Amino acid sequence: MKLFPHPVLRLLVLLGVVVTAAAGCENRTVDDGTGDIRVGLYASLTGDGASFGQSSLEGAQLAVEEINNAGGVLGGRSIQLLVEDNQSRPEEASNAVTKLITQDRVVALIGEVASRRTLAAAPVAQRYQVPMITPASTNERVTELGDYIFRICFIDPFQGEVLAKFAYNDLGARRAAVLRDIQQDYSVGLTESIVRNFTALGGQVSDPISYSSGDPDFRAVLTQIRAQNPDVIFATGYYTEAAVIVRQARELGMEMPILGGDGWVGDALANGREALRNTFISNHYSGDNPDPVVQNFVASYRQRFGREPDSIAALSYDAVKVLVDAFERAGSTNGPAVRDALATSSVAGVTGQLTMDANRNVSKPAVIQEVTWENGAVRFVYRTTIDPD
Ligand code: PHE
Repeated sequence: MKLFPHPVLRLLVLLGVVVTAAAGCENRTVDDGTGDIRVGLYASLTGDGASFGQSSLEGAQLAVEEINNAGGVLGGRSIQLLVEDNQSRPEEASNAVTKLITQDRVVALIGEVASRRTLAAAPVAQRYQVPMITPASTNERVTELGDYIFRICFIDPFQGEVLAKFAYNDLGARRAAVLRDIQQDYSVGLTESIVRNFTALGGQVSDPISYSSGDPDFRAVLTQIRAQNPDVIFATGYYTEAAVIVRQARELGMEMPILGGDGWVGDALANGREALRNTFISNHYSGDNPDPVVQNFVASYRQRFGREPDSIAALSYDAVKVLVDAFERAGSTNGPAVRDALATSSVAGVTGQLTMDANRNVSKPAVIQEVTWENGAVRFVYRTTIDPD
């Protein structure tokens, strides 16, 4: 006698079994140990953060090509990079990661750049126990979202300290104004750290002035800041608005130094043009670094993409190298095993020594760069390196 004689009933029971199995096992076996190793990259390839996405894709691509050309990973397997565009939107970042995990069956993820989008997507990776490395998201909370979430860049509590110290010690600033993008966790967190550190050094900061991503006009708030006549202005948002802030400040006759964080790194910063003088940022990497590791990377990137790599490209290149090192040490691409291996990473990267700490962050020096406009292009000129304590 058949247990489920009716075909529809049989189908239902079969489906029921499948659904139960899927729900009970978040960490699905997606890799049978042969063929290409599928790694997902989610990035803002379009939208207002497209420069971030493009650089992170190119940096990751270069690393993957080098690894595959050198014989691959885990006994000759190639890395296959599966790429999803999130259109610079947090909800799409989370959708992209869901798709990469559940449909494309990636074993690990690289991304995102902007902290807000990483914060939106990381819980998905955590839920499925798929290790994620963000190359560039510096907001402190990112890696607090779970033990599968790693980063290979410094964090904003440090970046804010670096900027505050440079303004206070090197530029001799005592009074500061801050402009922050309240839509961006990155800008809000970085502002908080700058204010705390600049005040602790003995400086004075007026109440941060808030704007929103996409705001086109800063003349009203800049006029307000001009009346306070601060020694420096910190503009803690991303490159698009930073360019407008700098240009409009100079138009209003404000010649004081304007400082930003890593978020100024992006193509549209060029809209600042000649106004980009007396401007400084903290960053992860300098292409001026004579270290052969850096110069080899710059040469390969230039050869491959016909342009200079920015810090995001360098970080994404490093993120792939750290991931592959973890595959090798884990001896597999199994999520929990790779997670454990990532937790003890120590890889010599283009952006410095990448040694994972207990909070899944790395502690690395920051560079200060002077931003200038030369021969119709933005240049980041190396000024100094600031080490973590
Ligand atoms: N640190 C920024 C963030 O967390 C992203 C970024 C990194 C932008 C490096 C430019 C260069 O949102």
